[in-house]
Amino acid sequence: MLELREIQESVTSGTLAIQVKHLHKSYPNKKAVDGISFGVVQGEIFGILGPNGAGKSTALEMIEGLRQPDVHPDTALIVDGLDVQNPKQRKELHQRIGLQLQTSSLFEELSVRENLEMLAMLYRKARPVNQLLKEFDLEQKAKAGLGTLSGGQQQRVALAAALINDPTIVFLDEPTTALDPQARRNVWSSIRALQQAGKTVILTTHYMEEAEVLCNRVAIMDNGQIVALGTPAQLIQQYATEQTIICRFEGKAIEANLLSHLKAVTNVLPHGNRVTLHTTNLAETMIALLYTVEQNGLPLAEITTHSPGLEDVFLNLTGKQLRD
Ligand SMILES: Nc1ncnc2c1ncn2[C@@H]1O[C@H](COP(=O)(O)OP(=O)(O)OP(=O)(O)O)[C@@H](O)[C@H]1O
Ligand SMILES: [Mg+2]
Repeated sequence: MLELREIQESVTSGTLAIQVKHLHKSYPNKKAVDGISFGVVQGEIFGILGPNGAGKSTALEMIEGLRQPDVHPDTALIVDGLDVQNPKQRKELHQRIGLQLQTSSLFEELSVRENLEMLAMLYRKARPVNQLLKEFDLEQKAKAGLGTLSGGQQQRVALAAALINDPTIVFLDEPTTALDPQARRNVWSSIRALQQAGKTVILTTHYMEEAEVLCNRVAIMDNGQIVALGTPAQLIQQYATEQTIICRFEGKAIEANLLSHLKAVTNVLPHGNRVTLHTTNLAETMIALLYTVEQNGLPLAEITTHSPGLEDVFLNLTGKQLRD
């Protein structure tokens, strides 16, 4: 993994694989991407984290040159030194980058091998299909129809497909959505291997855990805007210093103001029969909480505590959960 210092130096020295400035995209009823700017350092795994509809795919597809940005005087989009908005350079770009789209662009009726062979024909220079089958442990499935594969296997094919042209920059739109935990971890290893092979990876996700363990830096997106950007550790340190206590009560919801005065509590968020407390001092709040529970005969059924993560960063920045 890249060190924070290396990332900072790269940003200032300009060794950026991707530069995005003032990127906008409006649909008739929706501003899907609302003026985002960021850079991706060569060799890093960069994540765009956000809830459904945040604008992640729209942003990614504009950077890939697959979707036209709104005309805006300040927009700049440079990928691998090429101007994405210039049609000729965009064509060259498509030869160089690896793509895995959210809606799979592969054919269910064709076999794994046929899918990869067909894709290979689109490129000036393609990696041998056998090599990719081996690398992604797909040799046994080479002749199987794509539609007969498990979700995890299909995802491996999609990753192999994204690498067919031996790209230096790989774009992955939700590479692990709908996978079980084991398959997700396998995809994470493949993505780390891409980084070890010197590639730059930009991916979208709505799994904060994925962003936390996999990405060197993360841009958190909401409503078409980047609300925070940094390494996971930086974001947590900056936006989520407080510990969290989650209480579940039996039966109906309890009054939030009963808990808002507890020692060291800075925020009380009721949701159904649960209440989330933010505290600057876990021990002090716990003692006060249990005392209040006893004094008021509150039907406490479960209590969990947790240290802040990107989920809390998102909650603090937007006032809502990343996932329902
Ligand atoms: N072709 C389109 N026409 C109209 N609206 C669109 C179109 N594509 C996306 N949108 C809208 O733009 C917003 C952002 O969509 P986008 O697909 O970029 O979100 P996302 O962050 O990738 O979400 P998800 O996590 O569900 O993939 C959404 O409100 C979506 O409905
Ligand atoms: Mg999407």
